[in-house]
Amino acid sequence: TSFRVRSRWPVMVRNLRGRVGSKVEAVVMGEAVASEDEDLILPNHEFAQHAHVPSFEKYLEMYKRSIEDPAGFWSDMASEFYWKEKWGPHVYSENLDITKGNINIEWFKGGITNICYNCLDKNIESGHGEKIALHWEGNEPGLDDSLTYNQLLDRVCQLANYLKENGVKKGDAVIIYLPMLMELPIAMLACARIGAVHSVVFAGFSAESLEQRIIDCKPKLVLTCNAVKRGKKVINLKDIVDAALLGSSQNGVSVGVCLTYANELAMKKEDTKWQKERDVWWQDVVPKHATKCDVEWVDAEDPLFLLYTSGSTGKPKGVLHTTGGYMIYTAATFKYAFDYKPSDVYWCTADCGWITGHSYVSYGPLLNGATVVLYEGVPNYPDPGRCWDIVDKYKVTIFYTAPTLVRSLMRDGNEYVTRYSRKSLRVLGSVGEPINPSAWRWFYNVVGDSRCPISDTWWQTETGGFMITPLPGAWPQKPGSATFPFFGVQPVIVDEKGKELEGECSGYLCVKNSWPGAFRTLYGDHERYETTYFSAFPGYYFSGDGCSRDKDGYHWLTGRVDDVINVSGHRIGTAEVESALVLHPQCAEAAVVGVEHEIKGQSIYAFVTPVEGVEYSEDFRKSLVLSVRTQIGAFAAPDKIHWAPGLPKTRSGKIMRRILRKIASRQLDELGDTSTLADPQVVDQLIDLADT
Ligand code: PRX
Repeated sequence: TSFRVRSRWPVMVRNLRGRVGSKVEAVVMGEAVASEDEDLILPNHEFAQHAHVPSFEKYLEMYKRSIEDPAGFWSDMASEFYWKEKWGPHVYSENLDITKGNINIEWFKGGITNICYNCLDKNIESGHGEKIALHWEGNEPGLDDSLTYNQLLDRVCQLANYLKENGVKKGDAVIIYLPMLMELPIAMLACARIGAVHSVVFAGFSAESLEQRIIDCKPKLVLTCNAVKRGKKVINLKDIVDAALLGSSQNGVSVGVCLTYANELAMKKEDTKWQKERDVWWQDVVPKHATKCDVEWVDAEDPLFLLYTSGSTGKPKGVLHTTGGYMIYTAATFKYAFDYKPSDVYWCTADCGWITGHSYVSYGPLLNGATVVLYEGVPNYPDPGRCWDIVDKYKVTIFYTAPTLVRSLMRDGNEYVTRYSRKSLRVLGSVGEPINPSAWRWFYNVVGDSRCPISDTWWQTETGGFMITPLPGAWPQKPGSATFPFFGVQPVIVDEKGKELEGECSGYLCVKNSWPGAFRTLYGDHERYETTYFSAFPGYYFSGDGCSRDKDGYHWLTGRVDDVINVSGHRIGTAEVESALVLHPQCAEAAVVGVEHEIKGQSIYAFVTPVEGVEYSEDFRKSLVLSVRTQIGAFAAPDKIHWAPGLPKTRSGKIMRRILRKIASRQLDELGDTSTLADPQVVDQLIDLADT
């Protein structure tokens, strides 16, 4: 068998075809070859035999159809779900070219459905009501709980009825500020059931950040809990919410009800600060409601959720996803990229406060009727073997995590891994940042016993679901490469002028077409959506990432090319950290860059110029870090404050970050040309102060 090459055919396939006789080609053509090549991990034939996509040829056939006939391809995927009414005559419409009017993406418009119905009722109707939907593992070993699909639906309906009774209607926003309790996915599903738009705020964000989001989306209600234990630490969430609600009401946005789950293992009810007229204990009111709640049928293009993420300006962006396309896309990507089978037990270590938790803790898996493990705590508590303890306890078959965790467990030593069986594991996954080849190999060899393929999934909050990802079993893997595009996705690498590059190349990663899971706008700011994502390279969606493509057509992500830092897989805008620093009364100016970090991938490095007369002191340093923790959250705290009497600026006043990056990473012989600086001496001063 061979695949025919067409001129319209994407570059990556031409690349593969071009290498007649190469090992990759031999493998994709179904010939068994032994890998002498360190870089190539061949698919396991037994795995491939049972995989949804058993070969590269099958992938090519499906991929080709998804590109040539997106309407047909995605209609087939969509018809596996329940639609009260089918979509209109056009499966999709798109305009991705700013020169041709407003950017506009629609999928399945006119189709009437409900994602909560498809996650729960549909699975129950097809006979899986007694299957476990959620296993919950508490922070403390030995503490656990579970819900079947039937039980989950009951809980969701009770909360949905409560929300309705409190005036929440279709289109209203609800803020969810919860840790990884079962109430978190329950809350998301309850909103979806009644057509409300949830906005989950990661429960590690500070009061200021929460306040900002409340002011932006004006929720009818806030759902939270009093406290949570993470490792040995107790975090008082209710205090944070109180401060945020006070701040938002002073800014004219009052929230009527704060529904608070009493997490008594972390904090007693009587120790929780309370505002009688506003606060309600979840357990006092929700269980009294009926366990049946009619579904609010919505249009495929009605909003499902808002999720705030960082960009290159100080203000977080409210990424808006709609219902139908997101539903089909998360379901399909989950099924294929993890080769999901009904007997799988799936665990993703991400928090539902991030997009990974939306698409691949809640919606994607539940749409497939999967059994999902939710873990409340931190992965190395009480010791670095906890993950494998959980894997053995629930017989986890698919384990999806972030490179930062892999690297940190790798440092703790193999014994914590090998003392557990891990025999159940079948597929591993990675997300959040490029996974370096040595971490990839450790994950593959030690955690997966050289048996489990790794799906290194490249995607973003904006993309809704996986964009470039291996399909396990279908083709050889290269440690550190996200490999090939998912169905329907046409990634292109462009140079700085926006010219598409072919063959082996490196440049800016863009996408040429729309896909069902794409975000539709930035809440309240469509213009910012257009300029941020569609104006740099007209006609394309620009991801903000750099990427190279190798001679075999494999994609290698190289990190952000904009002012976004990726710390432990969390996206942080340099401008946000800078604004937090300059809010400190003794900080005159600040410039933030990312530097390489062994465990976190990148860490935050801040240059700070104090107001005149202020001297460096350890207390000042601490109070600057505290300023970031209170403005954004602990996860955004700078690791290093570099004292800067001045910052390197051009004559027009622009900070030259290129130079700051070199100083931060101590690449002092690569500073380059500093003659265009207004005051070149600043650089010497900074170098002198580097290790103070
Ligand atoms: O730089 C890329 C990196 O994470 C960014 C998206 O961050 P966020 O919207 O918070 O979503 C994280 C979870 C999807 C991307 O622009 N990134 C994510 N996954 C990968 C990655 N970089 C390389 N390889 C990945 N697998």
